[in-house]
Amino acid sequence: MACFSNLGLTLLLLVVVLGSSSAKLSTNFYSKSCPNLLSTVKSTVTSAINKEPRMGASLLRLFFHDCFVNGCDGSLLLDNTSSFTGEKNANPNRNSARGFDVVDNIKSAVENVCSGVVSCADILAIAARDSVEILGGLTWNVKLGRRDARTASQSAANNGIPPPTSNLNQLISRFNALGLSARDLVALSGLSSLLQLHKILLLTVSSVHAGSHTIGQARCTSFRARIYNESNIDSSFAQTRQRSCPRATGSGANNLAPLDIQTPTSFDNNYFKNLVNNRGLLHSDQQLFNGGSTDSIVRGYSNNPSSFNSDFASAMIKMGDISPLTGSQGEIRKNCRRVN
Ligand code: HEM
Ligand SMILES: *[C@@H]1O[C@H](CO)[C@@H](O)[C@H](O)[C@H]1NC(C)=O
Ligand SMILES: *[C@@H]1O[C@H](CO)[C@@H](O)[C@H](O)[C@H]1NC(C)=O
Repeated sequence: MACFSNLGLTLLLLVVVLGSSSAKLSTNFYSKSCPNLLSTVKSTVTSAINKEPRMGASLLRLFFHDCFVNGCDGSLLLDNTSSFTGEKNANPNRNSARGFDVVDNIKSAVENVCSGVVSCADILAIAARDSVEILGGLTWNVKLGRRDARTASQSAANNGIPPPTSNLNQLISRFNALGLSARDLVALSGLSSLLQLHKILLLTVSSVHAGSHTIGQARCTSFRARIYNESNIDSSFAQTRQRSCPRATGSGANNLAPLDIQTPTSFDNNYFKNLVNNRGLLHSDQQLFNGGSTDSIVRGYSNNPSSFNSDFASAMIKMGDISPLTGSQGEIRKNCRRVN
C-alpha cells in the first residue's frame, strides 16, 4: 500500500514536472525540429532592413503590440474573419502598425526549411531580437516555444496597448498588470536610444542624405497635442516639429517625424538625454521624465548607457514571457494571417 502510494506520488510529481517544463519557453526549443530557424529568420530580416531601415523599428513594435494583447500569441497577425475582427484595425495599429508583409516573407522562408513546426508568435519574437541587433543594438538569447492563437480581439487591442496620451500612472499600471516593472517600462521605451546609435552608423557608412535614414517614426496625429499645448516641452524642439505637423486636426495627420531628434553630427544625443531636456516627442515619452518616480531611472540611463543595454535585453525577455500559449494550446499556423 505504502509502496503503491509512493509510486503514485512519483508519477504525480513526474507529470507535474513534465507538464510544467513543456509549458515553459526555452532557447533551444527548435534546435532539433528546425535547426536552421534562426539563420533563416535573420537573413530575411536583414534583407528587409537593407531595403528600408525603418522596418527594424516596425518589426520590434509588432512584437510589443502582440505581447500586450492576450500575450505573445501571434493574434496581432490575424486578418478579419467572419467570427472576429482582427487587431490590425484597432486604434493603436490602424494606419500605423506595419511590416506584416515582411512577417509573411519570414514565415514562407521558415516553412520552406521546416514546414508546420514554428509558430508565428515565435517568428515575431525572433524578428524583434534580430532587428535590434541589426540596427546596432545588443542581442540576447530569445526564448521560444510559443504557439499561435486561434482568435484575435480588436477590443483587447484597443484596451491593452497604452495610447500616447497616457500619463505615468497609467503606463506603470498597465506594465505592472503584465508583470513588468517601472524600470522595464523605461528601458523598453528607450529603444530609440539604441536605434540612434545605428542611425549614426548608417550615416557614417553610407554617407547618404540625413533624412533618409531615420529609424522609428511617429505620425503627427500621435504628437500634435503635445507640440502645441504642453508646457513641459523645449520650445525650439516644439517649433521644429510644428513645421511639419499643422495645428488643425485633419491636416497632415500622417506626416512623419523621427521618434528621436535628428542631430546626426552629435554623438551624445539619445532618447534619455532628450527626455531630460524636455524633448520627448510623445506625451507618454515625456511622462517618463516629468517630476515623477521614473525620473531617476531616466537620469541613470542617460548617464550610463551600458546599464540601459542590459536592462533593455532583460525587459525584452520578460515581455516575451507574457502569457504564451504552450504545450498543446493553440496551434502552429501555416499562414500567419489565418487560423488553420
Ligand atoms: C510605453 C508605452 C508606449 C506608447 C504609449 C507607445 C506609443 C507609440 C506611438 C504613438 C508610436 C507612433 C505610432 C504612429 O504615429 O504611427 C510609437 C512608435 C513606435 N513604438 Fe511605441 N509606445 C510605447 C512603448 C513601446 C515599446 C515597449 C516598444 C518596443 C519595445 C515600442 C516600439 C515602438 C517603435 C519601434 C516605434 C516606431 C515604429 C515604426 O517606425 O514603424 N513602443 N509608439
Ligand atoms: C476588418 O474589419 C473592420 C471592422 O469591420 C474593418 O474596418 C476593416 O477594414 C477590416 N479590415 C480588412 C483588412 O478587411
Ligand atoms: C489645445 O488645447 C485647447 C484647449 O483645451 C484645445 O481646444 C485645442 O484643440 C488643443 N490643440 C491641440 C492641437 O491639441
